[in-house]
Amino acid sequence: MRSHYCGELGVSDVGAVVNLCGWVSRRREHGEHLAFIDLRDRSGVMQCVVDGAHDLRSEYVVRITGTVRVRPAGTVNPEMATGEVEVGDCMVEILNVAEPPVFAIAEREGGPTVDENQRLRHRYLDLRRERMQRNLAVRAKINSAIRTSMETQGFTEIETPLLMPSTPEGAREFVVPSRLAPGSFYALPQSPQLFKQLLMVAGADRYYQIARCLRDEDLRADRQFEFSQLDAEMSFVTQDDVLECISEAVLAAAEAVNGSRPVTPIPRMKWTQAMEEYGSDKPDTRFDMKLVELTSIFEGTQAKVFQVESVKGLRLAGGAELTRNRIDQLTDLVKQWGAKGLAWFKVKEGGEVEGPLGKFLSDDERAAVLAAMAAQPGDLLFFQAGLRDPVRTILGALRNELGRPPVSEGGLNFLWSVDFPMFHGATDEGRPIPAHHAFTHPHVEDVDQLESDPFAVRAQAYDLTLNGWELGSGSIRIHKPELQQRIFSLLGITPEEAQKRFGFFLNPFRYGAPPHGGFAFGIDRLAAVLAGEDNIREVIAFPKTQSGSDPMTGSPTPIPDKHLLELGLRTLPPKA
Ligand code: AMO
Ligand code: AMP
Repeated sequence: MRSHYCGELGVSDVGAVVNLCGWVSRRREHGEHLAFIDLRDRSGVMQCVVDGAHDLRSEYVVRITGTVRVRPAGTVNPEMATGEVEVGDCMVEILNVAEPPVFAIAEREGGPTVDENQRLRHRYLDLRRERMQRNLAVRAKINSAIRTSMETQGFTEIETPLLMPSTPEGAREFVVPSRLAPGSFYALPQSPQLFKQLLMVAGADRYYQIARCLRDEDLRADRQFEFSQLDAEMSFVTQDDVLECISEAVLAAAEAVNGSRPVTPIPRMKWTQAMEEYGSDKPDTRFDMKLVELTSIFEGTQAKVFQVESVKGLRLAGGAELTRNRIDQLTDLVKQWGAKGLAWFKVKEGGEVEGPLGKFLSDDERAAVLAAMAAQPGDLLFFQAGLRDPVRTILGALRNELGRPPVSEGGLNFLWSVDFPMFHGATDEGRPIPAHHAFTHPHVEDVDQLESDPFAVRAQAYDLTLNGWELGSGSIRIHKPELQQRIFSLLGITPEEAQKRFGFFLNPFRYGAPPHGGFAFGIDRLAAVLAGEDNIREVIAFPKTQSGSDPMTGSPTPIPDKHLLELGLRTLPPKA
C-alpha cells in the first residue's frame, strides 16, 4: 500500500510519485478548493495538498498518492523535519473514519498537558504521539543493541520459566494458583536469579536474557510491577570480567540511541567512598557538591547539637541568596527524611557567618569548618549531626534536592559502585540483612569474619548507576554449598529449612558448580534516562498507574466464582 514513510521524504525525492499511509494529524483549509493535510505515520509528518472537497477529519486513516515537490518560497517550515517539501496532486483514499480523538495527538508548544489517567485509559491514542513513538523506538534500539553486544561477546540467550517456586529476593512476589494442585501456588520471577545460576552448573558458561521480572512493590517513578532486565551470568570469571562485559553492553545501547559512545571506561567507586562523599550508594556524579567530613573538628565541642558520632557538611555555592522560607522548607524536608533538624549558616566577607548555628560555634570551630568546606563569601553551609548513617544519607538526599540537574541535562554519567558490604541493617531478631542477596560471595579475605563481625564483611557485589539512577546490580556468587549454608545460618535459615525451601537450588551445587557471577540491569530505567524521561512509565507501552491498575483494560478485576472454584480458591470480602 505504501511506497515511503512520511518522515523519510526530503528534497532528494522531489518529482517522485509516492504512496503514503497514515493518520490525518491536522487539516488547514485554504479557500474552498484546497486543504493542507499533515499526514502522520510512525516516522513523522508530511504536508499533503489535497482537493478541498474531501471530508477529512482528525485521525481519519488515509492513503495518499501524490508527487513530492519543493514548497513554494516563503512556506518552508524549518520546525518540521520534512518542512522543505510537500506532496501535491494528491489522490486521497479514506481507509477508515475516526471519532474525534479524546485528546489532541499533535503536540503543540505550550499546548495543554493531557491528564495522566486519560493518557493511560486511551493508551493507543497516547502512543500515537511523537514523544511516545520516539520513546518506544529508543527502547527497541536498546534491546537490539544489547542483543548484538551480548552475542558478539559469546553469550547465549536462554529463556527461564515464568512459573516458578517462591524464592528469597527481597520484594513481595506475585503468585499464581495451580489448577492441577489446588491450594498450591507458583511464584512469578522477581528475576531469573536461581535459574541462571543453575544454568552455570549446567555448563551454559555465558547466559543472557532480556527477562521480564515481576515484583509486587509500591510503584514509583522508577518502579513498575513488571519490568525488563538485561540478565546475564558467566562462569569462570572475576568481578572485572563481569564489569567489562556489562559496560560493553550498556555503552553499546547508549551509542545506539545517541549515535556516539559515552566516555569509556566507566569509572569505579568504592561503596564507602560513595557513602562518605555523596551520601548515597547511587551517586549522581553529574554535579560535584560532595559531603564534607567534619566530625573531628567537633571533638570536645560545647555545642550540644554536635556532641554526636558524626558531623558532615554540605556547601551550596552562592546559596546565601536562599530565602529564609526556602531554608525552612528544606528543614521540613530533611525532617521528613528522619533528621532532627537542619543546621546552617551563611558565609559573609571576612570569615563572619550568619545563621542560627553561628553563635553556637567557637571561633576555632568556625574557622576550621570554613576551611574544611572551602567556603567562600556568599555560600550557604548545611550541617547534619547524629549517627553516621542517617547523617550521610540525609545530607546525600539534600545534595540531590539542591544540585541534581533534570534527567535530560548534564550528559550521561555511568558509574560502577564496588565493594558493597555483605550486610546492611538487621531484622527485628537481630539477623543481618543481605545488602544484595543471599547468594553473593563475600570478599575472600573477609570470609573468616562472617560470624564474628558480619557487618565488616565486604561483598563481591557491584552496582551500576546512571545519573543517580540505580541501573543494575550483580555479584560474584557463592558456588560452594558449605559457604552458602554459613550465609543462610547467619540469616537464621537452618540446613533443614534451606533444604526444604531451596533444595532444588542447593543440591545441584554438589555436582560440580563452577565459580560464577553475573549482573542484571533495568532496561526500563536505561530507556527512561536515554529518552530524557523521569518516569519509566513513559518508556513502557502499557504500564500500570501508581495504584497498580490499568485504566485501559480495567485490570485487576475479580474473576467468576466458577473459575475460583476450579482453582480451589475462595476470596474474602474486601477490607472495610
Ligand atoms: P536487582 O534486584 O538489583 O538485582 O534488580 C536489578 C535491576 O532491575 C531493575 N528493577 C526494576 N525496574 C523497574 N521496576 C522495578 N520494580 C524494578 N526492580 C528492579 C533495576 C535494578 O537495578 N538478580 C539480581 C541481579 C543479579 O544479581 O544478577 C537482581 O534482580 O534497574
Ligand atoms: P536546637 O538546639 O534543637 O534548637 O537546634 C539548633 C539548630 O540545629 C537548628 O537550626 C536545628 O534545625 C539544627 N539541628 C538540630 N538537630 C540537628 C541535627 N541532628 N543535625 C543538624 N542540625 C540539627
